[in-house]
Amino acid sequence: MLDISHKITGTTGIFGIIGKPVHHSLSPEMHNASFLELGLDCVYVPLPTSHIAEAVAGLKALGFKGVSVTIPYKQDVIPFVDVLDPVAEKIGAVNTLVIREEKNSPEKTVSGYNTDWIGANRALAEKIGLKGSRILIMGAGGSARAIGFGLLEAGAEVMLTNRTEAKGRALAEQLGSSFFRPGEIGRVKADALVNATSVGMVPDTGKSPLPPVLLPNFSVVMDIVYAPLKTRLLMEAETAGCEVVDGLKMLLYQGAAQFKLWTGREAPLAVMRDVLYRRFA
Ligand code: ATR
Repeated sequence: MLDISHKITGTTGIFGIIGKPVHHSLSPEMHNASFLELGLDCVYVPLPTSHIAEAVAGLKALGFKGVSVTIPYKQDVIPFVDVLDPVAEKIGAVNTLVIREEKNSPEKTVSGYNTDWIGANRALAEKIGLKGSRILIMGAGGSARAIGFGLLEAGAEVMLTNRTEAKGRALAEQLGSSFFRPGEIGRVKADALVNATSVGMVPDTGKSPLPPVLLPNFSVVMDIVYAPLKTRLLMEAETAGCEVVDGLKMLLYQGAAQFKLWTGREAPLAVMRDVLYRRFA
């Protein structure tokens, strides 16, 4: 474990993660290693809470500079945000708060952002140009929502499929996307496929959300599942000759975007990557 105690002083910038639970999060290790790498006088701590309103008020009162927001508060935190980023507003979820001091005033402003979509876009953009590309998203939960609105921001054409039709159609309508029932995916040919469901995650590592025979219809296959790192979907996609993007890439780049929002500095990606892949490789 990283020893950061030596550098905490009265001027240290304090960051953290609020949620329930947070003990499993890799964000403290990822951000603390990055602060250390760049020599920034900052620290990042886990902050489990059952009281979101009081937590945000407490962060402001105690001089926190920013936090990550995780399950179950990504939606519930929004009423306590003063300035909501327009894409986070469309997604309806915030995973990053930046707490700024007002000039010549004791007041603080809480700005809410969503970096999940930024992480997904950057991960996918390593393999294909997003503008004008056709991308099929599987799933209609919070992750699919963030990825869907994010891809629209980048100018991609988004299509959607989901096990539960009503939920899938509702999200597709909000995105202005076509919806395909799982049985209809065979008709879809696209530049990329994104699995935004939990299918294939431990302990169900033998499962894949897509029959392998359909994989050649996609040039790139991305999975948001990162445990295991190589899901059955990604293994089969590689065999089918697709380019693949694993779920840690999204996690890495969403963290890098948070780091930039908090510090104004580019995140040391190699350091962050090391923390993540050491845990999951
Ligand atoms: P998240 O916030 O990570 O997106 P979520 O809101 O629980 O999580 O959404 C999970 C997504 O995975 C949903 O689209 C869900 O499909 P349903 O809407 O039909 O529930 C999908 N999902 C989960 N398990 C699945 C399974 N075994 N087969 C197909 N889809 C599944």
